[in-house]
Amino acid sequence: MNRLIHHIVLMLIAIGLAIPTAQSEALPGEQLYDIACEACHSLGSAPDHRVGPPLGNLLDRKAAAVEGYRYSEALRASEWSWTLATLLAWLSDPDTAIPNNAMNYVNALTAEESQRLAEWLLRQP
Ligand code: HEC
Repeated sequence: MNRLIHHIVLMLIAIGLAIPTAQSEALPGEQLYDIACEACHSLGSAPDHRVGPPLGNLLDRKAAAVEGYRYSEALRASEWSWTLATLLAWLSDPDTAIPNNAMNYVNALTAEESQRLAEWLLRQP
């Protein structure tokens, strides 16, 4: 019985982390990144086993510029580079920003959280 309760508590914690709600208002950018991006993206600049390209040193980087990562045709042809404005447009709706891209992502963050996350991310080496 105790184990069951323990499991339920762990599940509730996991759900709370997965769905940022009003109570997560004050989560710093780093934690938002861990929740929303880290499963698919590492920082730094070398591709690893993850689904997406590494996101270190992103500020002013050209889109689709990481050597060794297989980007979609759409992102390679985009001629975007990453600034606060382009990153926010991309995060708020990737498919509208660059149609046919390969980032299968639905934004569950508020505009304010996206902004905090993006500002943090653009400072990472
Ligand atoms: C389900 C996996 C997944 C999640 C979650 C995800 N991404 Fe991505 N992301 C990708 C993939 C795949 C690509 C490559 C897209 C392409 O080639 O069209 C990508 C590309 C990008 C790029 C372009 C990088 C470059 O080198 O041009 C940025 C910026 C980015 N993601 C930011 C984010 C941020 C910030 C988050 C979290 C808020 C996030 N992504 C969440 C999979 C994901």
